[in-house]
Amino acid sequence: MRLTDTADLWWKNAVIYCLDVETFQDGNGDGCGDFVGLTQRIDYFARLGVTCLWLMPFLPTPDRDDGYDITDFYSVDPRLGTLGEFAEFVRTARDRGLRVIADLVVNHTSAEHPWFRSARSSRESPYRDWYVWRDEPPRDGPKGVVFPDKEDSLWEYDENTDQYYLHRFYKHQPDLNVANPAVRDEMARVMGFWLQLGLSGFRVDAVPFFLETAGNADAHQLPDPHDYLVDLRAFLARRQGEAVLLGEVNLPYKDTMAFYGDPEGVGDELTMCFDFVGMQRMYLALARGSSAPLAEALRERPEPPRDAQWATFVRNHDELTLDKLTDDEREEVFAAFGPSEDMQLYGRGLRRRLPPMLGGDMRRVKMVYSLLFSLPGTPVLFYGEEIGMGENLAVEGRAAVRTPMQWEPGPGAGFSTADPERFPAPVTTGEFGPDEVNVRAQRRDPDSLLSWIKRLVEGYRECPELAWGEFEIIDAGDDALFVHRCATPDRAAVIVHNFSDRPLEAELELPDGTLDDVLVDGTLSVRGGRVTVPIEPFGCRWFRHSR
Ligand code: GLC
Repeated sequence: MRLTDTADLWWKNAVIYCLDVETFQDGNGDGCGDFVGLTQRIDYFARLGVTCLWLMPFLPTPDRDDGYDITDFYSVDPRLGTLGEFAEFVRTARDRGLRVIADLVVNHTSAEHPWFRSARSSRESPYRDWYVWRDEPPRDGPKGVVFPDKEDSLWEYDENTDQYYLHRFYKHQPDLNVANPAVRDEMARVMGFWLQLGLSGFRVDAVPFFLETAGNADAHQLPDPHDYLVDLRAFLARRQGEAVLLGEVNLPYKDTMAFYGDPEGVGDELTMCFDFVGMQRMYLALARGSSAPLAEALRERPEPPRDAQWATFVRNHDELTLDKLTDDEREEVFAAFGPSEDMQLYGRGLRRRLPPMLGGDMRRVKMVYSLLFSLPGTPVLFYGEEIGMGENLAVEGRAAVRTPMQWEPGPGAGFSTADPERFPAPVTTGEFGPDEVNVRAQRRDPDSLLSWIKRLVEGYRECPELAWGEFEIIDAGDDALFVHRCATPDRAAVIVHNFSDRPLEAELELPDGTLDDVLVDGTLSVRGGRVTVPIEPFGCRWFRHSR
């Protein structure tokens, strides 16, 4: 690895920060977050060390799925601002060294999108084939309802034209027909439009869903759906060489690998895939106080193609899905972190944020983020994680974790000066509400979570070998310990985590040299191929290993 590589393949050691414009910062006092407010906060990201912002959908929408139900792919939701304000935001972000990516929803539109309104008006509509219609729900169609609390079928009968349309998600989100070349052209046009306005790529929503063509009468037009992903990536590269596709693919590792493209190549489909499996096994490890489940996942996790990278995360905007654990394992995590039914969702996940799950134990919270920034992969933060926001269980479903950003104490949380009744979501209350948890109080407190995250980001950026190096797990003789080493030919980092509430000593075998603390001051010597590393309960230590 040369240092210029870290600039070219910038995503490999980026710090990605996901936010929803609607709940981040209100700039005009109407109670809704907007691009003007977000632009005012850009220096906050720059100070934190974030290098890339991921915007959740900000396009016009009836907002029945938090903006993932789109009615116009070419403009900005008027509640959030104008295209002009969007362009100013991107430009200001660029000036502070921040790239911006945004959600790209190819799988479906809102049922209120003019394309679908036209499609359902008559079988002769020019947009009819932009969606997937059948006389009867086909037997060979896709399986599995995504939101079992709201839907019981993937096909909805449309009385007017006497056919059923496919919807993998809610029935108000009809699936687009990607087997239709006109739809594929339009989606390329959408990408081109936003790239032209300065985006550096996309977080691609629901990838395996839109690539599946089972049950689609036009499937023969798209014999290998992966060819479509290769096309999309090639188009992206032609338009904007540094742009990325960060894909939502929640599948077992071996199935996810197919979405990176040719395993022998540099990676010609998705640039990054979220590590859903590693994330879930980390929670199991936390529940057990044993690093073994996480170590197993990382040993099993294949290397992505040369230029690609895993995207790692602790929480995202959806439920904390535990669908890749066995039933017993899931029950263990539920028992530890979300025992009551209103904390659980769809029988597979938790609608909680991390600090409340860990009973507010900051030692553990800090350890988890140390894992996020030191394990191989590109860390993705969800807004508010850096200050330890909690969820609001009084809000329905997944929205419990999508409450306004907490900048200051007070009922409006510094998010907006308007009457909180007008906010798009209620502010969190109680122990994790804005009076206890906010940016202002944490900014100058060296022991705050915010200061800790900042230090982790600095350490992570100073040690590109964490993202670029060869990864190995070092046996430390105790399951409560997790020790890993990342090395390039000229640098090496050694990282120690303690999953238990006991102080421990990690006995490590390493080549002679020194271990220099990255996060705090300190040095240990490795002599005779051995070193003892003392580590506090739920502690973590990062070292640069020099010989
Ligand atoms: C993805 C998003 C989720 C959304 C769904 C449908 O899974 O993460 O929030 O509801 O797609 O667009």
